[in-house]
Amino acid sequence: MRLQFLWILVLLVQQNEANVYLRIRQGNIVEWLASILFPPTTTTTAPPIITSTTQQLTSQSSSSSLGTSSTTTTHSPPAASTINSFPIERDCPLCRCGLINTLHKKIIGGHETRIHQYPWMAVILLHQRFYCSGSLISDLYVLTVAHCLEGVPLELITVRFLEHNRSDSHDLVIERQAAHVKIHELHNPRSFDNDIALIRLNRPLDVDNKPLRPICLPVRDHSFDGELAIVTGWGAQREGGFATDSLQEVEVLVLTQMECRLNSTYKSGQITDNMICAGYLQNGGRDACSGDSGGPLHVHFDEQPTQYQLAGLVSWGEGCARPQAPGVYTRVSQYLRWIERNTPGDCLCMPYPEEDY
Ligand SMILES: *[C@@H]1O[C@H](CO)[C@@H](O)[C@H](O)[C@H]1NC(C)=O
Ligand SMILES: *[C@@H]1O[C@H](CO)[C@@H](O)[C@H](O)[C@H]1NC(C)=O
Repeated sequence: MRLQFLWILVLLVQQNEANVYLRIRQGNIVEWLASILFPPTTTTTAPPIITSTTQQLTSQSSSSSLGTSSTTTTHSPPAASTINSFPIERDCPLCRCGLINTLHKKIIGGHETRIHQYPWMAVILLHQRFYCSGSLISDLYVLTVAHCLEGVPLELITVRFLEHNRSDSHDLVIERQAAHVKIHELHNPRSFDNDIALIRLNRPLDVDNKPLRPICLPVRDHSFDGELAIVTGWGAQREGGFATDSLQEVEVLVLTQMECRLNSTYKSGQITDNMICAGYLQNGGRDACSGDSGGPLHVHFDEQPTQYQLAGLVSWGEGCARPQAPGVYTRVSQYLRWIERNTPGDCLCMPYPEEDY
């Protein structure tokens, strides 16, 4: 228990430091703290133990759960080799990333999405409470922001997929435990630079089957300047508001680095090359807000209005939807090599079926 209190103190200090900016959930910190001190009865695990978040989970549990996985696994590894080997070898199904589960796109002004429209949306739960969002990028990894996971014990993290209305979860919801967390080595909690992290799930997901599907990683060296993007999340709908029940989407305009550096209230040095700004400088009005942290900023492929790539991750902003204060996102295309290096053992889905694996 004493260790838990220590950890909470660390978290509180982190939050106070960064109060103005980060889009982590803050509206209900009291409730959230209470849930830590008085965990919900559904949690049957032993009291959490403080461990480094970068610690590898024993390879026994991760690889043995890999071995028990569903249709994506074509063979079980010999029992002896499951003890110390991750990743294990397996055959990957052919699948396509980034397709939304709806035929017609609506005009977007900040409203509820259709159920499972964005099938890569991941809810990150801390001690079974909503904390942040992420995006499924393969059958085994969720991409999110570092500020959601820094200092958080691995044992507390659950990831939920196919959620829509958080107050009314249904049978389709799929949950996985975090088996490993990788926070970017150069994450800077003060400047918010390199705000990116990966969660490895304890078992692969069946991404071959609708409705679950990973989003595509962004095209290398593509800037997204001037393109329309969609940000989705369960965060507050206005500054100081509470997280919403059902998944919301809003359309925002991607700004050039120059515009964001020169024409926003941010100091030009604050916007690093690892960030991407989106919003409306003159009028504000559409933005991510607290509770949306880690969620996707997606842009559809040219000529493919129903297929999306992950341009950014909700990171920070001054207030929400204020004029001259666009949302700032982690620029995922800066991290393609880092992602590749840190996602061993997964099966990827490709943007086009004919593409080489
Ligand atoms: C979410 O579910 C709750 C509980 O069933 C319901 O009261 C609420 O209206 C739902 N919200 C939306 C936006 O559908
Ligand atoms: C900044 O805003 C002004 C006025 O709207 C505009 O003329 C100028 O082109 C903008 N600068 C950049 C770099 O976009």
